[in-house]
Amino acid sequence: METYNIFLEYYDKIVRWINSPLDEEVGFLDDLIQKYNPTERKNISILETACGTGIVAKEFQKLWYTITGLDINKKMLDKAKENIWEENLVLWDMTDFELNKKFDVVLCNYNSICHLLTWQEWQKFFEMTYKHLPPNWILIFDINTLFEFENITREFAQFYNFWDDSICLEMFKKNGQDELSWTDKRESPVVFYEWLIKIFKKAPDGRYDLITETVRENSFPIHMIKKELKNKRFHIEEILDFHYGEVNHESERVYFVVSKK
Ligand SMILES: C[S@@+](CC[C@H](N)C(=O)[O-])C[C@H]1O[C@@H](n2cnc3c(N)ncnc32)[C@H](O)[C@@H]1O
Repeated sequence: METYNIFLEYYDKIVRWINSPLDEEVGFLDDLIQKYNPTERKNISILETACGTGIVAKEFQKLWYTITGLDINKKMLDKAKENIWEENLVLWDMTDFELNKKFDVVLCNYNSICHLLTWQEWQKFFEMTYKHLPPNWILIFDINTLFEFENITREFAQFYNFWDDSICLEMFKKNGQDELSWTDKRESPVVFYEWLIKIFKKAPDGRYDLITETVRENSFPIHMIKKELKNKRFHIEEILDFHYGEVNHESERVYFVVSKK
């Protein structure tokens, strides 16, 4: 489902200036890729699924990686043209794509997989990525854990100010059967989590327009993801907590590094 049409203007600033400094994240990912690089080669090709504005890809390009960015949202890809070569951008759904080539690394960063609401979509994503990897190379993705989503729904709203505008972010737990339209219900999740994004945008006359957007996310237990990756013939190299290294039941953001054997 296409999301972030309005929030996109503020996305990089909230995510990368405030929540997760870009250099830390790119350094972390670069170390992982080098650790699992089965060759001496420096020039490594990465397919970044759900690449968003391409802000991460831009940093990887500086490190001599070749990046292809895939996203379902045309507006995101238009913005990504500032960061990734246009010919390396593809508009596609990460649960169903065929690029007719393989990439050394498939990356799905910043809990983007959580935008897939159903378990069937997560399974399809694993299938697609397996197909686009050569043997011995890796898929890296991270999730927001269920523990993290439950915490965010309990927390107070988050507020940010940009230029003259203000943004309020809140998350609610939703019941799929009550919330989704009839067509969405066919493969609906039982529950999912929904960001309610309120943007108070200053108009030329000094008053504020309220614009709202919702972004839906979901997650699944780590043991279930592990089992499915093994079913899909991936070898689990590492599962790690982005903040503390070792994963425990209170981990909030967890990375999976898996290889195709
Ligand atoms: C969290 S944002 C992008 C994050 C980006 N990876 C980064 O690290 O900055 C999530 C992105 O997932 C994309 N997305 C959501 N569902 C998708 C799908 N089914 N296929 C491809 N992209 C999808 C959205 O359009 C959005 O750009």
